[in-house]
Amino acid sequence: MSRKILAAGNWKMNKTPSEAAAAIEAMKATCASDEVEVLLCVPAIDIPAAMEAAKGSNIQIGAENVYFKDSGAYTGEISADMLLDVGVKYVILGHSERREYFAETNETVNAKMIQCFAKGLVPIMCCGESLEQREQGVTMDFIRQQVKVGFLGLTADQAKAAVIAYEPIWAIGTGKTATSEQAEEVCKGIRDLICELYGKEVAEEIRILYGGSVNASNAAELFGKEDIDGGLVGGASLKPDFGKIVNYK
Ligand code: PGA
Repeated sequence: MSRKILAAGNWKMNKTPSEAAAAIEAMKATCASDEVEVLLCVPAIDIPAAMEAAKGSNIQIGAENVYFKDSGAYTGEISADMLLDVGVKYVILGHSERREYFAETNETVNAKMIQCFAKGLVPIMCCGESLEQREQGVTMDFIRQQVKVGFLGLTADQAKAAVIAYEPIWAIGTGKTATSEQAEEVCKGIRDLICELYGKEVAEEIRILYGGSVNASNAAELFGKEDIDGGLVGGASLKPDFGKIVNYK
């Protein structure tokens, strides 16, 4: 089993292209690592400047969303070919903020997953329960549905290459991190589901990240868990501190 830890930043709607370039220049040295794969998912308009700034470093630049159609009359959307043309490999899909504010559903996430693999992008598919769902005891039922529908129609090889990010909504941007036991329990539950759907080999290879108030002081404990293969990091990825998360050991 050889799952490489992925430290992925999610900048959300922060930083202009020039701010992005300056931030990445400043992060390059601290994010150097042979062991950990480093990715910053940035606003689409920042991608070319961020790519340029990251040249010669191990920092990869990804996107925060993609549309499921190839091209056409979809004002405001960004296609897979557009992302590929500027060198993007990874794209975040189905973040809870997109589900809440931009009407993303399990079905649109699934269409985007299919489009990513048709085009050669690697999706980082987000899932996660609300506080209410956790308190009702339906966390795993809810997440199983998100993952099952999100992965509909994907082959075993595609599933193996995908990344899943477990992000409890109550832990995002709140400073309230899930305990490493809570995070591990759900990430293991997701891996068990992938095993049911695709078998042991796929389950052992797919990377499952934890996200929700990951910072320099909790990364080591979270990433040290058996079924947690890195993090999707919001707030802390905007700061030079991100290098401490990359070099968490
Ligand atoms: P946070 O965000 O690290 O600021 O909690 C995580 C995310 O939304 O991906």
